[in-house]
Order: sequence, then structure tokens, then C-alpha cells
Amino acid sequence: MTPQQDWQRRSVAAVWHPCTQMARAEVVPPLPIARGAGPWLYDYEGRRYFDANSSWWVNLFGHADAGLNAAIKAQLDTLPHVMLAGCTHAPAVRLAERLSARTGGALGHVFFGSDGASAVEIALKQSFHSWRNRGRAEKREFVCLKNGYHGETIGALAVTDVKVFRDAYDPLLMRAHIVESPDARLGNEAAALAAMRELLSERGPHIAAVIIEPLVQGAAGMVMYDAAYLRGLRALCTEFEVHLIVDEIAMGCGRTGTFFAWEHALVDGGQASAGPSQAGGAPSGGSSCTHERGGVSMWPDFITLSKGITGGTMPLSLVLTTEAVYQAFWSEDVSRGFLHSHSYTGNALACAAANAVLDRFDAGQLQANAEQAQLLKQAFAPLASHPRVAHLRQQGMVLAFDVIEPGLRFAERFHLAARAHELLIRPIGGTVYLMPPYLIDAEAAAFLARAVRLTLDEVLSQSSEGSAQPVSKEVHVA
Ligand SMILES: Cc1ncc(COP(=O)(O)O)c(C=O)c1O
Repeated sequence: MTPQQDWQRRSVAAVWHPCTQMARAEVVPPLPIARGAGPWLYDYEGRRYFDANSSWWVNLFGHADAGLNAAIKAQLDTLPHVMLAGCTHAPAVRLAERLSARTGGALGHVFFGSDGASAVEIALKQSFHSWRNRGRAEKREFVCLKNGYHGETIGALAVTDVKVFRDAYDPLLMRAHIVESPDARLGNEAAALAAMRELLSERGPHIAAVIIEPLVQGAAGMVMYDAAYLRGLRALCTEFEVHLIVDEIAMGCGRTGTFFAWEHALVDGGQASAGPSQAGGAPSGGSSCTHERGGVSMWPDFITLSKGITGGTMPLSLVLTTEAVYQAFWSEDVSRGFLHSHSYTGNALACAAANAVLDRFDAGQLQANAEQAQLLKQAFAPLASHPRVAHLRQQGMVLAFDVIEPGLRFAERFHLAARAHELLIRPIGGTVYLMPPYLIDAEAAAFLARAVRLTLDEVLSQSSEGSAQPVSKEVHVA
């Protein structure tokens, strides 16, 4: 037995893998990874794989980045961790200040969690509790979008509409309103806003918050939509006195072309980039940025961040909110405070890593991303004419396309076939997507386009007899 096989066998026996039907893991064992360097992962037999989905969208700068590692090592020798109740530390304070500054001070009062789902739980609880503290305890309902994804703890799952994750636990979940989601492929942004208006005008007094993924619904299969929807939604939430929670866990940290995806909504008359079908970039010179309209902030009431904020080094999540929400908790009365906590809240190593990530953005990462997005766009353009490819689309450093009649177990077969082309990639149902590390040069873009094309042709030739499988039934997800 090779070391590779030995780790596979031991892992299946000892580790309960996430998002995996373990009976299937016996047939398709996990890929043991010995080390990573830049965009590449290496197995125990020396084979390498380009991490095209940045390991569940977290490794913004690839693997074992020297700068991030140095920041963590320095923090490790100073203060790895101290509890954030009753104590504080410089990395958390600096990180909170820097993120708030990136919203022009519209949001702040950063509350730290650990994984993405814990940030979603925090935002939901803060929203409800702030209404309650203001004498509006009847505002206790939440609204999410069809096919939206916000994590898998019980609260986050209640505002997640992905059957494969949700169905088994449905009896345990609080009831959220699920509203039509915008989808540029359908051109239904106006209809989706009309559906939201209808719900808010009927239930507004009982609704605490609407939660959405900005610009791209990731786990739904990289469903992209226009920033005009975000502006319309902001206006509706203001009109009906409902909080807006913008979940940037997947799309924050420069992924869409701006640091916060929400920044596209601040640009009048269009997206900061040219929209879902074209490569993203920093806010373009032609349009003006509006942070408030008629004295009302155009920022959301909450932003959640996680994943890329530490560049794939340490688990960290956080929630930014407004002065108004914060003030609703300000009291001598302990029960009016936000008493939520996690043991690793604001972990100093994680905050040091996040500060190192922000250093990259201060040093011009968005400009680099705009150039890299353009390289991806050019390299993948020929795929648009492939007879089995539909809706080739891009928002900054997210590129996706749908496969026509993908066949049975397409995602799993594509994932396995891609390994032979030095590519680690996990389609969602019949949607192939890339969310690569921000390390794309012309050579990497050409490599990715070629590897995806070869894999696609190989998989489609295997599956010509396979029947189309409904996306939501596939176990091989995200
Ligand atoms: C938009 C969004 N919100 C929340 C989450 C949950 O994050 P985590 O898996 O870290 O709990 C995810 C994870 O994919 C996500 O994409």
C-alpha cells in the first residue's frame, strides 16, 4: 500500500468528512494532500493540482503564502490568543478599525465569530434583539432568497434554501420567508424586487431582516445578478423598516472586483465592474459613488465576512453593523446587551492573518484582480462556442458556465477526471466554476482554460448515454 492509499484508508476510517456521503467516500476516497505552495497542492506521490476553487473559496493567495505565514508566526510568539470578553488586543482592534474605514465609517462595531455560519447566527440574533430592545419584539421573521445559502448551523440553515442541505433538518428550523431570487440568465431582477415588495408590504411589521448574497449566489451554482437589484433592495428595506443583512462570506475580500461586493451597489447607473457577463474591476471612473441618498445610508445594516478574510490560514468570521443597531443595545441593563460569545472569538492569530490580508488590499490587490479577471476572461472566451456550454459568465474572479445535459453524477465525474489534468475543481451540479487564488498570470489562465476544456470533453464523451440528473439531487456539492 502506498502512503497515498494508506492516508485514504485511515481517513475514511477515522474522519467523518464534511459535505460527504461517507458510503460514497469508500468508492471515491478523499485526495490526501501532503503540502501546498501558491496555487498548487501536492499529493504524497508528488502529483500536483491547481486549486481552482481556492479550497472552498478561502485561499485568496494560494497555499503557504510567506507573507501571511510571517504575520501569524510573529503573532504566535507574541500572543496567540486571549479572550475578548474583559480583554482586548491590538490585532482585533486594528482589524475592526480597518474594516470600518473600508465602509467610510457607515458600518463598524465589529463582532467576531469563527466560521461563516457563526457570523450569520450573530447577524440574525443582533437584528432581532435590536428590534426587541426598541420595543418592536414582533419583528422576528426573516426573509431569504430562493436557492440562497448562508451556512448549516440550525439558524443559518433556516435562511438557506438548498434542498440537499436543508431537507433532513426542516422540522427543526424556524420558518423563514423565501422570495424569488434575481438571476441575470432569466433577466428577472425587476420581478424579484416586485416579489420582495409584495412580501415586505404585507409582513414588514413582523420582519426583522432580509439576508442575501450580494451579486453572486455561490452555492446555488454561481448565479449572478445585477447590482441594480441590490440598490432596489436597499430602498425597499428602508421603506419598510427592515434590516438588510449582506452576507459577504463568499463574495467579500475582492472576489467580485471591489473589496466588499456591496460597493458595486454604491455606484450610480451600473456596477463597479461591467456586470456579470464581463470581467470585474475596481469602481470605474465614469460613475459616481453614492454612500447615502436623501440622508439615508446606502450601506446595508449588517455585513458578514469570513472565508477569505484570513486567506485560508485561520478560521475567523465577523459581523459589521451600524451605529443605530449598536445603540439599541447600549444600556445599564445587562439583558439588553448582546451576550453572545464563542471561545475563539477574535482569536489573535486569526486577526493578525486578516490584517496581513488587508495589507495586500491597501497595496493595490484590487487592481491586480482586475487584470487577472481580464486574463481569465480572455482565456475562457473560446469556451462560449462549445456546443454543450451555456451561460459562460463572470463577476471579477468568479467564472462559471452551465453544462447542457451534464449526465448522471456529472460533478463527481468532472472532479475526478480533472485530477488527471492537474486540476482540483468541484462543480456544483451541472455548473462548472472557478474561484481561483488571486495568483493568475497569462500562463495560469491558459492552463486553467485548457484543463477545463479537456476535462469537459472527456467527461461529456463518457456520459453520452447518461440521463440528465437534477442538480439538487447530487451529493457532490460546493
Ligand atoms: C454566502 C455564504 N454564507 C455562509 C457560508 C457558511 O460559511 P461556513 O461554511 O464557514 O460556515 C458560506 C459557505 O460557503 C457561504 O457561501
